[in-house]
Amino acid sequence: MATESELIDAALKARENAVADYSHFRVGAALETESGEIFTGCNVENATYGLTACAERVAVWKALSEGRRQFRRIAIAADSEALTPPCGPCRQILWEFCGDIPVILGNLQGRRETLQLRELLPRAFDRSFLK
Ligand code: THU
Repeated sequence: MATESELIDAALKARENAVADYSHFRVGAALETESGEIFTGCNVENATYGLTACAERVAVWKALSEGRRQFRRIAIAADSEALTPPCGPCRQILWEFCGDIPVILGNLQGRRETLQLRELLPRAFDRSFLK
């Protein structure tokens, strides 16, 4: 199992591939599976703006599309003094596919903070309401 610092390093490395020509705000994510594999993602922007893909969702889609279904943690890295948390839609998607996992935030200055997804998305709507 990777250390928190290794997971953040993977997110920082993924961030280097960000396609952020419009916002210039580069984000990287590293999603760890239950078995310890790491799937990374970066944000990918587009001239329509609205079709932008966030780093977190890219990592989730990559892992799901490779058949992984159980996840343990995610790390998110950006160059912001206040640590960048996942946006609202990413919180919903993380809840759907990962549940109440630890979300490790980091920046380029070495600041780190770990939050549970439940803290970021209280009273989440999910499949339990549909039964
Ligand atoms: N972004 C992410 O990829 N993840 C986040 O957690 C916050 C925002 C991206 C989307 C867009 O490409 C840029 O950051 C500015 O919003």
